[in-house]
Amino acid sequence: MKEIKAKDYSIFVSTTISKDIVRFLKANKKGYSKLFILVDENSLQHCYPQLVSTVPQFESAEIIEIESGEENKTIEVCIQLWEALSEMKADRKALFINLGGGVISDLGGFVAASFKRGIDFINIPTTLLAQVDASIGGKVGVDLNHLKNQIGVFNNPKAVFVNSDFINTLHIRHVLSGFAEIIKHALIADKAYWQLITASDFSDPDYLNSLIATSIHIKNQIVLDDPNEKNTRKMLNFGHTIGHAIETFSLESQSQKHLLHGEAVAIGLICESYLSHKVGKLSKEELAEITQFILTNFKPVVIDKLDAHRLIELMMHDKKNEKGEINFSLISSIGKCEINKKASSDMIIDSLNYYTNEIKHFRNA
Ligand code: GLY
Repeated sequence: MKEIKAKDYSIFVSTTISKDIVRFLKANKKGYSKLFILVDENSLQHCYPQLVSTVPQFESAEIIEIESGEENKTIEVCIQLWEALSEMKADRKALFINLGGGVISDLGGFVAASFKRGIDFINIPTTLLAQVDASIGGKVGVDLNHLKNQIGVFNNPKAVFVNSDFINTLHIRHVLSGFAEIIKHALIADKAYWQLITASDFSDPDYLNSLIATSIHIKNQIVLDDPNEKNTRKMLNFGHTIGHAIETFSLESQSQKHLLHGEAVAIGLICESYLSHKVGKLSKEELAEITQFILTNFKPVVIDKLDAHRLIELMMHDKKNEKGEINFSLISSIGKCEINKKASSDMIIDSLNYYTNEIKHFRNA
């Protein structure tokens, strides 16, 4: 078991998290008045049974189920959850338990942070994405008209329990979605980590499990240095300025398949690496290396030239923007990230064209 110390809570990484959860609940001297477990259909089926049979306190917990998918990370679903808590007479001593992926921890954390001005919550992330990113760092919130994370607050969980075995229950699309964040961690902070992930076969679950703690360490360190994203935490947004716009576009589009967060971020990582080369110092060789690795692992997505302006419009809502300018976090080399970088609309369109051309070359190679 590894215990990683975050600002005012711990992240426990082990394949026996039940013991850690039992210990956490016992250590809460005052005792929680009632436990509420937020699940979706996936975590209810694949993860809850194992926990309820090994954490006795979970037997009397109330289960609250929502539908999976980013489309449900809305204020309307929060209202349903606040009403459910109210009907079930949750008081300020209740503990809210987020058992699921990134949608569950973002939305559940926000519900807990705001119900009766805040009740305690813990995260038990069950997807790779939530384990290495969403469940740690205290960002909680919801989307607004598909615009990502426009409403929210910083509020830390009381603890995070990561069982890397849960990722064996995931569909490959969800594994890859989390892998995009692992790639991002390497690109912004750790060249040796990049060399490790590019030299290994990520489809081996034991190897993937071994990456989780490293990625959590990288993210946790960045968050510890700048918890409220005034400064260096913006590095974690590399790939996300364009990635979020592409994700939102796929969610609002009637014709296009909805992309998972990491699928859109993978495209964003390529486009923003292109920007890192054009407006920053990233070498042509490293740009090619990054592009090649991501295209080898992620399915290509067609981005219509005609949609570029809508994508830029969506980027105008990015939370990092200041004074109407789109603000990027870009890499100067693999393992080094610089914040508050600007790129013109033309350059952003060029980066989308670069992605489109590269997928064509990759297919024909
Ligand atoms: N997911 C980016 C952050 O937590 O800052």
